[in-house]
Amino acid sequence: MATVSVHPAWLPTDVWRPIGSRRVRVDVSGTVREEVRAACANHGGALITSGHADLIFALDSADGDGYAITREPHATTVTSATHAGLLHGLFATVRLGEAAFTPAPPLRSRPAFARRMLDHWDNVDVHPVMGQVERGYAGGSLFWRAGEFRHDQLPRIRDYARLLASIGINAVALNNVNVHTTEAHLLTDRLDEIVLLSEIFRGYGIRVHLAVTFAAPMLLGGLDTADPLDPAVRAWWEVTLAQVYERIPDFGGVLVKADSEGRPGPFAYGRTHADGANMLAAALAPHGGVVHWRAFVYNHRQDWRDRGTDRARAAYDHFTPLDGAFADTVILQVKHGPMDFQPREPVSPVLAAMPGTRLALELQVTQEYTGQQKHVCYLAPMWAEVLGFRPRGAEGATIAGTVAEAVAVANTGDDPFWTGHPLAQANLYAFGRLAWDPTLTPAAILDEWLGLTFDAGDGLRAAFHAIMGESWRTYERYTAPLGVGFMVRPGHHYGPDVDGYEYTPWGTYHFADRDGVGVDRTVASGTGFAGCYPYPWSEVFESVTDTPDELLLFLHHVPYTHRLRSGRTVIQHIYDTHFAGVAEVERMRDLWRGLKPAGLLTPELYARVGELLDEQVRCAGEWRDQVNSYFLRKSGIADNRRRPIH
Ligand code: GCU
Repeated sequence: MATVSVHPAWLPTDVWRPIGSRRVRVDVSGTVREEVRAACANHGGALITSGHADLIFALDSADGDGYAITREPHATTVTSATHAGLLHGLFATVRLGEAAFTPAPPLRSRPAFARRMLDHWDNVDVHPVMGQVERGYAGGSLFWRAGEFRHDQLPRIRDYARLLASIGINAVALNNVNVHTTEAHLLTDRLDEIVLLSEIFRGYGIRVHLAVTFAAPMLLGGLDTADPLDPAVRAWWEVTLAQVYERIPDFGGVLVKADSEGRPGPFAYGRTHADGANMLAAALAPHGGVVHWRAFVYNHRQDWRDRGTDRARAAYDHFTPLDGAFADTVILQVKHGPMDFQPREPVSPVLAAMPGTRLALELQVTQEYTGQQKHVCYLAPMWAEVLGFRPRGAEGATIAGTVAEAVAVANTGDDPFWTGHPLAQANLYAFGRLAWDPTLTPAAILDEWLGLTFDAGDGLRAAFHAIMGESWRTYERYTAPLGVGFMVRPGHHYGPDVDGYEYTPWGTYHFADRDGVGVDRTVASGTGFAGCYPYPWSEVFESVTDTPDELLLFLHHVPYTHRLRSGRTVIQHIYDTHFAGVAEVERMRDLWRGLKPAGLLTPELYARVGELLDEQVRCAGEWRDQVNSYFLRKSGIADNRRRPIH
């Protein structure tokens, strides 16, 4: 059988040349030394213990997991207080390339968030609907296949750990938040598999976490309750987690999706989410572990006839009354928007409403609603907007300055390109880099990624920027308009279906009729969601004229003839953006066709991206035609440029 070689992503052999061709001294044992040894073996340098070194790695007592790079005329020195910090310094040196050896002022860097975490939604068994990886678009799981642990993948998992460490990730949750029966056993009788994975990740400074089911004491422990205040339940968790720590002393902790989309939780016992989370925190704290408790709690059995219930409010209503009630080692993990990873949502008001709680911002690198790794959609611009949003106005803190951690749902799998679409690698890269430094610009991150992955010169760089740089906004243009969201095919969530969710229990509506469209979430006449924000955003969102265009239909129900801040009517905006969005995708495809595979832009990669761009053009056209036809038929208002609408 022909073996397909695995793409090196942003760490091709040549990026190690500037380090590997020099004389390097590493004053600590462990991964940094082994990486340097391998680089020197490949590029003719030497790992030395005495004599003049061009590059020195040494521990000091300064910076936590940060590092310093001092570039003097004859030597460059990388220092950190920890081995993990030295590892980050090593990869920073890789990113600098030859510039690491040109005299320059000292470079000091420390992470904005102490924990930078990736959540895998990997299943052990193949789930009948969700498959091996829930919302996975990059092949199977790196860890499990059809119920079995992938012992044969350990070398590749090591490469994966290296990739993650190189972008600053230091925590991974290994399994899906929807913990089914087989996966529940990872905590107990399948712990061997987690021990093996933790050994690999540990070498790269990454702690492993497990998603657990709140019903584990019943499922695994034979108890007849999972009530968090029941002494037998508490004892079961204490003993079970202590056993985990005997095998994995640096186990990170647990991740819990409770009372959400059918998962068990404390509500069944009349307990609060603080009761549930604090019970787990009490069992973990003696060992230094934490609880990631998800705020994604809403009623997914809504009646669409009930206009009073608003899914966008759910997390706010459930969790803000509990502010201050969570233990210090509980981190409430909040999706960036109030709904569910749509291409455009306002920033979740929960992030600004719980000053007494440690919060993690949860992003979705896997492209569930953003083209499923068939479409080019570079997400860093969206995340940078979220991280830079100031809920209390220009003088107040940003989201990056408010939350304690950044977490993202992984987009990786066993595909030879790691992420299915080769260009989706940039999203993983960008998440790691923004979690380290949220002030980096999306364009600078893209440049960095291009430099490493393709060793791109100016021409290639410009073409990639033209294809990827604005691709999130392009995606937004040809899909659901003005922040109203969804309009995807129910279930798998790929491609358009304007009314697909309109009369369902999921709480995701657009309320289009012959006169207008959008969801009235004002305090004055709607669900009151706008009032969940602090001033000034409560007032901005309450006002139909002040709400930014891109969020108008998330917050207001307006006539099709309503004039946007841009001056266009809503209906004309829908037509114009859908035609423009598809034209932009066609241009992206044409630019790609104009490139020639060469060097690191291999024929395989070039072909894969080309095929996917054809699919993106097809799918974007389908979106344009369905959305435009739907709104023409509803509104009866013609496109003022009389373009073809069906
Ligand atoms: C989305 C997604 C689910 C996932 C859920 C979650 O709703 O479609 O597959 O389980 O988010 O974040 O828990």
